[in-house]
Amino acid sequence: MTLLEAIDARHSVRQYLAKPIEREKIAALKEAADSLNAESGLRLQIITDEPKAFSGPLAHYGHFTNVTSYIACVGKKGSGLNEQIGYYGEQLVLLAQQLGLNTCWVALTARKRKSPAAIEKGEKMPVVISLGYGETQGHPRKTKSAAEVSDAGDDAPEWYRSGLAAALKAPTATNQQRFFFTRNGSVVTPKATGGFYSDMDLGIVKLHFEIGAGKENFTWG
Ligand SMILES: Cc1cc2nc3c(=O)[nH]c(=O)nc-3n(C[C@H](O)[C@H](O)[C@H](O)COP(=O)(O)O)c2cc1C
Repeated sequence: MTLLEAIDARHSVRQYLAKPIEREKIAALKEAADSLNAESGLRLQIITDEPKAFSGPLAHYGHFTNVTSYIACVGKKGSGLNEQIGYYGEQLVLLAQQLGLNTCWVALTARKRKSPAAIEKGEKMPVVISLGYGETQGHPRKTKSAAEVSDAGDDAPEWYRSGLAAALKAPTATNQQRFFFTRNGSVVTPKATGGFYSDMDLGIVKLHFEIGAGKENFTWG
């Protein structure tokens, strides 16, 4: 499965089967997390056999069932942390999809404090990502159009359209899709347009745009 196919296939999944994730798949996710952490300075951690974070009223409210594995997204406190977590965390989400697993970004509806993830002084864990074999593959949802999230007119190049199409398939908090892209030649400038966690959304959306557009076709403004 290519990354573009993973983007197409991915939907948030909140109900999982009680089927353990194979050791080789956990190893592949850990190896990817290690290399993303080395590049970014984040501390993305693959947590397994840990039901506490996804039990209790919040998880129930979020309709989560059978979550015992997740990605703990930890990094140094600072203004760029959320965007960075979005950009790097989504790489693990797409890898999980390629491995046949399902995921859901979770900022609110989990008990993050119950997690045994390592969080050092000066760090925080704004979000976790559930991981496992879904009861289903999830469902397509409503989406904005390219015209609502960008300046793309009829003359927009193919790579820009493809980037925007991939960006519109990105998960965003409450499906808010509060971002806007502008283009000047091959320079693309994305902005979060406000709203809850829209900085984290922006990191996720930028990764999708890069995959859809092809990094060789543009630079970030
Ligand atoms: C930063 C972020 C935080 C999220 N937090 C939660 C959450 O706390 N609980 C939940 O059930 N879903 C959460 N989601 C999942 C979104 O609701 C979901 O991505 C959105 O509705 C779009 O659906 P899709 O992922 O199937 O494309 C979050 C998504 C993102 C990107």
